[in-house]
Amino acid sequence: MDSSIKEEVPVHEEFILCCGVETQVLKCGPWTNLFNEQRANRPKLLIFIITGNPGFCSFYVPFAKTLYSLTNRRFPIWVISHAGHALAPKDKKILTTSDDSNAQEIKDIYGLQGQVEHKLAFLRTHVPKEMKLVVIGHSIGCYISLEILKLAPELPIIRSFLLFPTIERLSESPNGRIATPLLCWLRYALYVFGYLLLKPWPEKIRSLITRIGLQMMNVQYEFSVLNILEPFCLANAVYLGGQEMMKVVERDNETIRAHLSKLTFYYGTMDAWCPTKYYEDIKKDFPEGDIRLCEKKLPHAFIIHFYGEMAGMIADWLKDDLSKIEALTHGSVTDS
Ligand SMILES: *[C@@H]1O[C@H](CO)[C@@H](O)[C@H](O)[C@H]1NC(C)=O
Repeated sequence: MDSSIKEEVPVHEEFILCCGVETQVLKCGPWTNLFNEQRANRPKLLIFIITGNPGFCSFYVPFAKTLYSLTNRRFPIWVISHAGHALAPKDKKILTTSDDSNAQEIKDIYGLQGQVEHKLAFLRTHVPKEMKLVVIGHSIGCYISLEILKLAPELPIIRSFLLFPTIERLSESPNGRIATPLLCWLRYALYVFGYLLLKPWPEKIRSLITRIGLQMMNVQYEFSVLNILEPFCLANAVYLGGQEMMKVVERDNETIRAHLSKLTFYYGTMDAWCPTKYYEDIKKDFPEGDIRLCEKKLPHAFIIHFYGEMAGMIADWLKDDLSKIEALTHGSVTDS
């Protein structure tokens, strides 16, 4: 992962209104508005990343850039924030689309099902219908990816990678047992803490603290990261977390069975949100599925320090699919 290679990967930050909610989208590659491209020049496929919770897209940028390079820069890679997890900096314009009219219909948009609807609305309004999709879910993003497969069979999703999937028995997991009471019952205490202690601090100080904290943890970032200490975003992340604990209970075997040939599951060996028992159980129920156990001791939050390893594996698993798409593309697009 030569950093000089990553340096030249264009990444574009946008804030759009999706379902009436400010949403950060980071776009890797030269394509920003796919509808503006002439049909023949449009890429044939989009790689779409659905983050864990909190959904701070900036943390996924090194991963997206590396995957973009490893897939020969042929396909755009987009990362979307969860609704309410990102606020635009004051000087940033928020883009709107005319067909984002179903805004008010989504109730509880910051809740788990609302977040599913939010991603679906984005795909329906921002991605041309004929474009194929590869969906990469991380953590709760895996649950959302499965829901998308279930609720929108019309979307041309050809593959979905579920990384460190929290798709069942979340509150029974080692971390879930700690987080469940914390998120559900202490939610209000956290709100009060957030608003009383963090809100009065000027944005500059919050931003400084965030930067120092991230530097101490040796985390790379670009783009807006202020939101980590923004009470509104924190409250939404906590709210979503609480819903995850209550609602991610039984594995959705029906959806998994229906889409098994498209799915790749990647389970960690030291993942306290998803113990290896869950891997063994799903493997037993779907012996023919592509269900893998990590052999590299990657942590649940692989995006921080192990994005290169993960991007390398995904590029490898995607090779056949992408070369098929590229074969289709030949003739309609001039090679550079
Ligand atoms: C899926 O299968 C597992 C294990 O066989 C079972 O415990 C779970 O209840 C099933 N999920 C649903 C929604 O039926």
